[in-house]
Amino acid sequence: MIKIAVLVSGSGSNLQALINAKLSGKIVGVISNKPEAYALERAKQANIQTMVIAHQQYPHREAFDDAMHQQLLDWDVDLVVLAGFMRILSAKFVQAWEGKMINIHPSLLPNYKGMHTHQRVLNTGDVYHGCTIHYVTAELDAGQALAQGVLQVAQHDHATSLAQRVHTLEHMIYPQVVEWICTGTIQHTALGVLYRDQIMQKPIQFCKL
Ligand code: GAR
Repeated sequence: MIKIAVLVSGSGSNLQALINAKLSGKIVGVISNKPEAYALERAKQANIQTMVIAHQQYPHREAFDDAMHQQLLDWDVDLVVLAGFMRILSAKFVQAWEGKMINIHPSLLPNYKGMHTHQRVLNTGDVYHGCTIHYVTAELDAGQALAQGVLQVAQHDHATSLAQRVHTLEHMIYPQVVEWICTGTIQHTALGVLYRDQIMQKPIQFCKL
């Protein structure tokens, strides 16, 4: 059975969706860089081990990443799932987990890497918005995309309503993609990413228009 660690910094609604999904893999631990993250409560209620690794207590990024790396090794983790984890990871850490670490980002990557994606979509006047699940590589929000959830921006949308709508999509597609990894439907191989044993040419799209 695949052992999963989930890295969080905040509310943990995606963690909750993963817990609720009853995956074939097992969430063996949750790491938060913030002691006050509500995600930790959610993990405790689901009897999942938690660990706070507060980044301020480390002299530099690599020392913080080393502490996380050690914890992941101690839990014997196969897959690292970033779910609202709001720290940039060092290249060394990313390389150690390359092909075994995924992230969800609230935009249709490669558009709107970084922060404040909903407001930026509104400012540009885009028709479509959504979220992307991708492998994590050293470049921010740039690893191969596995799946995207797409929605149509409504005239009455504002940043908060868009954030809620994107969250709903995230809760639908993140458990599905994690389950596909757990069952080998998605595989990271030397040839590339395979989906149902074929090279994945583009991310799988889920539309909620
Ligand atoms: C999610 O919308 C996720 O896409 C975003 O943080 C939110 C976490 O919500 N992640 C990023 O912006 C990463 N760059 P949650 O804590 O309720 O799961």
